[in-house]
Amino acid sequence: MKIFIDTANLDMIKEINSWGILDGVTTNPSLIAKEGTDTRTRVKEIAKIVDVPISAEAMSLDSEGMIKEGRELASIHENINVKLPMCVEALKATKVLSGEGIDVNMTLIFSAQQALLAAKAGARYVSPFVGRLDDIGQQGMEVLGQVVGVFFNYGFGTEVIAASIRNPIHVLDAAAMGCDIATIPYNILLQMVSHPKTDEGIQNFIKDYEKSKKK
Ligand code: G3P
Repeated sequence: MKIFIDTANLDMIKEINSWGILDGVTTNPSLIAKEGTDTRTRVKEIAKIVDVPISAEAMSLDSEGMIKEGRELASIHENINVKLPMCVEALKATKVLSGEGIDVNMTLIFSAQQALLAAKAGARYVSPFVGRLDDIGQQGMEVLGQVVGVFFNYGFGTEVIAASIRNPIHVLDAAAMGCDIATIPYNILLQMVSHPKTDEGIQNFIKDYEKSKKK
């Protein structure tokens, strides 16, 4: 499974890239606003520090605007793909942009039916929001599994990004079902590294090593 980081923070991206595990970066307007910058400036900066796909969200709500913005964002760097929010206008824009070789990440996906339409329109990625479904008492993982299953049945080239990841179990479940990608917040990547038995083991080895040195 590919691992993307879900952040617009440059230090976090640099740090995770240094681990040798980074396959992509996803941003959204909320993550960009948290950094006190704008999408164009920040994705340009991200493209300078990592050589992986980077999602940049277009803010227009009509297909013409989405296409114009999509072209502008994609022209910043060859690694940039355009995030569009699932709706009829985004499907129309996806058809045009994908026809021009511009990758689209259809975001705010909450059902397999939406994902199916996005894939048919030519999206390179679809992003089902697992955590936000859980938040409203629905089974985010169940929807993710349906998307993965439908795409497998028909051999769609569209990759599924497990998004709105809230804990390491979400990552494990996504990997176990064969989801292509998980876009993971920095704090959850840190949690995935740690295990109390690993920490305990390291401490015990250090203690025994110190003891053996004294002999
Ligand atoms: O980037 C899209 C998605 O991952 C957002 O997650 O936690 O705001 O629901 P969240």
